[in-house]
Amino acid sequence: MDRAAGLQAAPDLVLMKNNFFLNKVAIVTGASSGIGRATALALAKQGARVALAARRGDALLELARDINNQKGDAIVVRTDVTQQEQVGQMVREVLDRWGRVDILISNAGAYIRSPIVDLDPAELQRSFDVNFFGGVYCVKAALPHMLAQKSGHIVFVTSMAGKIGVVPDVPYVSAKFALTGFCEVLRQEMHGSGISVTNVLPGRVDTPLISHLKFSWITAKISPEKVARAILAGIRKRKPIVILPPQAGLLYYINVIAPSLSDRLARYFHIEGWENS
Ligand SMILES: NC(=O)c1ccc[n+]([C@@H]2O[C@H](COP(=O)([O-])OP(=O)(O)OC[C@H]3O[C@@H](n4cnc5c(N)ncnc54)[C@H](OP(=O)(O)O)[C@@H]3O)[C@@H](O)[C@H]2O)c1
Repeated sequence: MDRAAGLQAAPDLVLMKNNFFLNKVAIVTGASSGIGRATALALAKQGARVALAARRGDALLELARDINNQKGDAIVVRTDVTQQEQVGQMVREVLDRWGRVDILISNAGAYIRSPIVDLDPAELQRSFDVNFFGGVYCVKAALPHMLAQKSGHIVFVTSMAGKIGVVPDVPYVSAKFALTGFCEVLRQEMHGSGISVTNVLPGRVDTPLISHLKFSWITAKISPEKVARAILAGIRKRKPIVILPPQAGLLYYINVIAPSLSDRLARYFHIEGWENS
């Protein structure tokens, strides 16, 4: 039975023979949890071959088993994205297995907060290591192969915090702003190369990253599955930027046009959230 037919027969994997993602090779970093896990599953359901990367091998193995039991095709590549050598090895393992890389979802991240008055520069470094350099290393490792193929799609899961400052998040915000800048330059450099670049900027998402926090309605958490669907749509339509949900986009545009009003709204709605009691 060919793979497309096998996947079609699987109960949970919804596939069509002419599916855009069928047999595409995707790497998803941060696949052990939250948005990365949901995106890897969504890609697998569409017939993509997925390499699951993160540090927690047990969570990755469980996800790979789920996908492969449903006649999908997933491998686990345990990777700490702050280690450039490991990221290089991750891409080599994917090439050894499937011979190409079509989609890179650079998603691994950590939420590191500190008021600036108390800021230890080591915290800033820790945030940049994972939230910025993690993405840079992935691009450095995958890009030469995409350029040789003359095709590929790179997705960065940054954050609305890559466009709007949120108190007391300077380690996280600074690294996400830096990654947004990297992404915007990469997108323009790749013009005409066959490689597309998408920056995905979610507002608050219901994942372990912020499970200790609650928010007012304007920054209410959306599901990781919703972000995953937006990521896949962004790839299919080659969108340069994906912002969701709409109210997060509204806050961003207010910030561009009227920053003082945006600051007032941020204070009024406590967009930094409250600790769960
Ligand atoms: N949740 C939100 O509200 C929200 C909003 C906007 C943007 N984002 C962004 O979305 C991305 C995913 O976050 P999430 O909300 O899905 O959080 P999550 O559930 O905590 O997932 C974070 C993922 O990143 C991985 N990771 C962390 N450090 C890593 C490292 N050094 N090397 C490799 N993998 C690493 C974790 O895996 P291991 O621990 O197994 O390594 C985990 O799979 C992050 O970049 C985050 O900044 C989240």
